[in-house]
Amino acid sequence: MESEFIQRANALSTLGAGLSVDVYSPDVLELVQALGEAERHPGYLEVFKATTSAMRWVRRQLPGMPLTYHGEGLWTTQPNFPRSNSGRHGVAEACAQLAALRSAWLNHECATKQMAGYAFGTYLPPIYTELSATMTAENVSFLQARVDAHARQDGIDPALVLVEMPPLTYFGCGALAIPRFFRQVTEQTACGLVLDIGHLWTVYRYTGAWRRQTVESFVAEFLDEFPMERVIEIHVAGLAEFPTRPDSVTAADAPDRPYWIDAHGAPIPALLFEMLSQVLAHPRLRSLKGVALEVDTKPIATIVEEYGRFVTRFEASITEVQRNGEAASLAPSHSANNSALEVRPLLTADERAALQGQYQAYVHCVTTGADLAGMGDLSLLGGSCDDLTRYRTTYLPHELLHWGGALRDMFPKTCGLLAEARVSLEQFVFAWFSRPRPEQDDYDFFLLKIDRFVEFVEQSCPAAVQSANEEAQGLRDAYRTANEPIGSVGERA
Ligand SMILES: [Fe+2]
Repeated sequence: MESEFIQRANALSTLGAGLSVDVYSPDVLELVQALGEAERHPGYLEVFKATTSAMRWVRRQLPGMPLTYHGEGLWTTQPNFPRSNSGRHGVAEACAQLAALRSAWLNHECATKQMAGYAFGTYLPPIYTELSATMTAENVSFLQARVDAHARQDGIDPALVLVEMPPLTYFGCGALAIPRFFRQVTEQTACGLVLDIGHLWTVYRYTGAWRRQTVESFVAEFLDEFPMERVIEIHVAGLAEFPTRPDSVTAADAPDRPYWIDAHGAPIPALLFEMLSQVLAHPRLRSLKGVALEVDTKPIATIVEEYGRFVTRFEASITEVQRNGEAASLAPSHSANNSALEVRPLLTADERAALQGQYQAYVHCVTTGADLAGMGDLSLLGGSCDDLTRYRTTYLPHELLHWGGALRDMFPKTCGLLAEARVSLEQFVFAWFSRPRPEQDDYDFFLLKIDRFVEFVEQSCPAAVQSANEEAQGLRDAYRTANEPIGSVGERA
């Protein structure tokens, strides 16, 4: 594994300091122009998935800029990935977008928005167990093999698959420490990694490490276990407290341990730059190719200001880390043959089925509040049950009712009729998770929400069905129009 990784990593250029951006939010060309006016010239842009035509358009507009790809919708943590729509159509689309950008890598969160027939609006981390790490490694090898095969067809260099450690949104489940999980993944597949500093802070916060140690000692311990030699890219993004209900605990009640979660539109707390310093000084960080601020949904003025501070403070050390890495990079002991990457099943059918059952139980626990005690490997990964309850009772309903469009704004007339009939929107949250459903052709949370809401109205308030159907059609038409001519408006987590 190691020699194949080294060969692939050695083929990548060093890109230095950059930005991870969305095509539309904010407008990528306006952003590049504003940076240029401030005499800031990012070493690269990592572009979040949109449509393939949008990727071609960005490539044409920024001919001299190295562009890399932040994928979405590839559920490599899930047992059925290779046979799912995500593993077939999703992977083919990602390969087309890699080619359109001429990207050196394919980055994806090691997390999912769909599991065991249930859909979520934002990412859930994998179950942190050995079985799950092995499943992820097998699926990442499958993904890399597909990327290689497409690249051969297109006559281009294959992109390297990077797996990003996801954030914890109040909780994580499993019996295996997170850095150990990623070590097990990298021992079984030749992928690179993305280490996100804000995500790392959420691990400190929501595994309960904050009770025992300082951030500094936590980071030192974590990095010593984490496969730092596989880290190709580092991300830094904002953190913010999620809007909480008036009756819940707020940061004012816990000033030393804010309930921050990953929030790309929010400012970057000073603490994360301190953590970044510590990460950049780690001796096993020898494959680093880029460090990007993730800035989708952030105001351009804030991006320019933060990026200026970031390069002033870190550009020299990033260059030094990359130079040291290049000097130390050794040729692999034997030549890895990328063109014939063999994907061997690492799990038996029984193990795969067992993991699928665990993901069903995982959904059940996080959506219903069923007791995790007695679920064996599914226990909380540190942290407190109150924090899991916070996810279930505040974050999850908000995700379904507001994320990607507030239902009351999307369906004003229908919501009025539901209110008259005394049907509360909270019931929609229960209906959403009431049963598993067949996988969608293409995961799109906005369209999924429209379909599910119409179904909910059909079952709970027949008098409002006509209104729901009319409003749904209007939304679908507007969405289709908005997606032309160059791409769709994507929401990212
Ligand atoms: Fe990230």
